Amino acid sequence: MRVGILTGGGDCPGLNAVIRAAAKTLFASGVEVMGFRDGYRGIINKNLMPIDKRAISGLLHRGGTILGTNNRDNPFNFPVKTPEGKTEYCDVSDQLLENMHELKLDNLISIGGDGTLSIAKELVEKGARIVGVPKTIDNDLAATDQTFGFDTAVATATEALDKLHSTAESHHRVMVLEVMGRYAGWIALWSGVAGGADVILIPEIPWSLDSIVEKIEDRQKEGKLFSVIVVAEGTPGPDGERVVRQTIKGSGDPLRLGGVGQVVGSLVEQATGIETRVTVLGHIQRGGSPSPLDRILATRFGVAAAELAMAGRSGLMIALKGTEITAVPLEDATKKISNVTPENQLLQTARATGICFGD
Ligand code: F6P
Repeated sequence: MRVGILTGGGDCPGLNAVIRAAAKTLFASGVEVMGFRDGYRGIINKNLMPIDKRAISGLLHRGGTILGTNNRDNPFNFPVKTPEGKTEYCDVSDQLLENMHELKLDNLISIGGDGTLSIAKELVEKGARIVGVPKTIDNDLAATDQTFGFDTAVATATEALDKLHSTAESHHRVMVLEVMGRYAGWIALWSGVAGGADVILIPEIPWSLDSIVEKIEDRQKEGKLFSVIVVAEGTPGPDGERVVRQTIKGSGDPLRLGGVGQVVGSLVEQATGIETRVTVLGHIQRGGSPSPLDRILATRFGVAAAELAMAGRSGLMIALKGTEITAVPLEDATKKISNVTPENQLLQTARATGICFGD
């Protein structure tokens, strides 16, 4: 038996731990493992990476992915160079399926976020055998209670907040930290609570400048001359529009968010007259060694995916439900993203401790 593995979408801490766990499980049953470089592109271009026991040694704590990844490619809309040197976007999914067949793949473990898993679903509909593994620092996949990578990203953002706190206090400043998370506020909410933020702005809650200013002024009256604000990158600006950093042609999700932290910082400085500084944490949140929790979740996901692949199952995504690892249809996995709801317990807890959400 031969099983392929690829990683797609933005990287996150724990990808290597999934590859290691899946490969170990497959090796134990004598299954051959074939790695594909840079997501689905690796199958389209037959760009293989042999995975043997040596290749997976020392991977558990390593950030990134040894297979490489990208968050642009889509086999249904893939950039192809014409003889004239132009780039055209074509459906190369048939070629991909043919290559899987030629390479005698019995199953494929596709580790990715909603873009990678949506593509997996479409490929399964065309006859491919694929088991999905959810990953993203954003933790925004509704079909699993948690994705690996999230815990590490929250830890990184919390550490940044701890550092911003001390400099904010010394200078009597307002410090704004912009964190990732795409259209969901999970990283901002969790790190904001863990890092003792005074204000947290997330895409799910409309905010007003007055509310933020009131919070900062209340703190001043209490003798707290500094404030820390966390802003999720997907939070709309005061005009209700998301702040976009870049648009990537051909990508399933072409918008790259970023910049709302600066917008908020400037408004707060103007309104309060307090010196304000803005930090964009950026890709630091995606890098580095996975936390123990992410290593464990990734290992559990990897083992479960390998077991399903060996059982000949397809069209499923591994998920965490409560404390149990389970599997859900890929179709459900990609239907909707998970957002912070008004009833969310952590949100309520944050409000109870006086954190302002700008509403
Ligand atoms: O989905 C993970 C993520 O890091 C988001 O939080 C962020 O919006 C996006 O990817 C950044 O993408 P890129 O690496 O293309 O800048």
